[in-house]
Amino acid sequence: MKRALITGVTGQDGSYLSELLLEKGYKVFGLRRRTSTPNFENVEHIKDQIEWIDGDLTDLASLIRAVEISQPDEVYNLAAQSFVATSWSQPIATAQITALGVTNMLEAVRLVKPDARFYQASSSEMFGKVVETPQKETTPFYPRSPYAVAKVYGHWITVNYRESFGMFACSGILFNHESPRRGLEFVTRKVTDGVARIKLGLANELRLGNLDAKRDWGFAGDYVKAMWLMLQQDEPDDYVIATGETHTVREFVEIAFSYVGLDWKDYVVQDERFIRPAEVDLLLGDCTKAKEKLGWKQEVSFEELVKMMVDADIERLSKSQSKMLYNVT
Ligand code: NAP
Ligand code: GDD
Repeated sequence: MKRALITGVTGQDGSYLSELLLEKGYKVFGLRRRTSTPNFENVEHIKDQIEWIDGDLTDLASLIRAVEISQPDEVYNLAAQSFVATSWSQPIATAQITALGVTNMLEAVRLVKPDARFYQASSSEMFGKVVETPQKETTPFYPRSPYAVAKVYGHWITVNYRESFGMFACSGILFNHESPRRGLEFVTRKVTDGVARIKLGLANELRLGNLDAKRDWGFAGDYVKAMWLMLQQDEPDDYVIATGETHTVREFVEIAFSYVGLDWKDYVVQDERFIRPAEVDLLLGDCTKAKEKLGWKQEVSFEELVKMMVDADIERLSKSQSKMLYNVT
């Protein structure tokens, strides 16, 4: 039985990856930071199958302990302060978790279990103000937010540990990937949650920022398969994972509203508060290398993704509405 240690296991990707590894027969250890109110929403259905270890990416001692307990064959470092907008209001915390946290995790592995295979969750956000389109593994980085700067550090320290210590360390440069488990502040989920609220009569407007930004959006369930594939290769390497299609935020909004028979122009309000100090205007990935070497391919299309997320939010909110009605009557 293979053993995997996952950081960020309560997040969107951590939950899909845990499911995948459990299905494959892995023993899954999940690093979880202490919070005053436990948040197992994404992993409630598999909570009892995961071995939980307390720890924090900023606390090296806790990571050493986690590696000692789990003795992993594979480590997936998914934990991060992952919301770009917050990285301007909390730049130092972002650097401590999203940048230095990677070195902490690599050090814990190097000291305790150096033969473990290591996956680092790098990001297309590193391409930022893009210098070529589409973006691939060789495209230079031009980060545009404290988050992206931190991710560039995390990427290069991973490459450096591979080259310095011969560790099996891979960096997955993943373009945006979404799902019904996406955090509510990210634009896709904010839109599908907003559409569901408007459709159910719980809200009458949706306030958004820049509708012209373009992203290469895929489904998170497809992307975690690429993470696993990277660690099954003979040699460690870095890979771009993307769909090769780009869409504006406006297109996402149009599809989500029209799917429930509404015209987005009647409800969407542009709000300066959601405009970023520096924007990433266009992301479009070229994942030829992953297709050829990993045999990875996307399964869920852009339209299917939007509809899946709208359906899930309508179902979730309808259930909580009827629960409230039930409690009142
Ligand atoms: P997410 O939903 O925001 O999950 C982040 C996870 O990190 C949560 O489990 C969170 O725990 C944990 N975490 C945060 N700070 C921590 C700390 N100090 N110590 C330990 N755990 C901590 O993110 P995601 O969308 O699943 O993304 C997973 C990773 O891929 C992240 O590194 C992200 O930056 C990167 N990435 C994401 C995308 C994307 O489009 N989703 C694209 C490229 C790269 P709590 O539950 O306690 O908050
Ligand atoms: N969040 C948010 N809220 N974004 C908005 C809004 C809004 O109201 N209105 C417009 N946008 C625009 C943002 O300005 C940005 O251009 C785009 O929508 C996407 O924003 P997010 O969904 O917050 O994601 P992101 O692209 O900044 O970052 C995500 O993808 C990265 C990979 O490229 C995150 O998951 C990162 O962790 C990840 O690395």
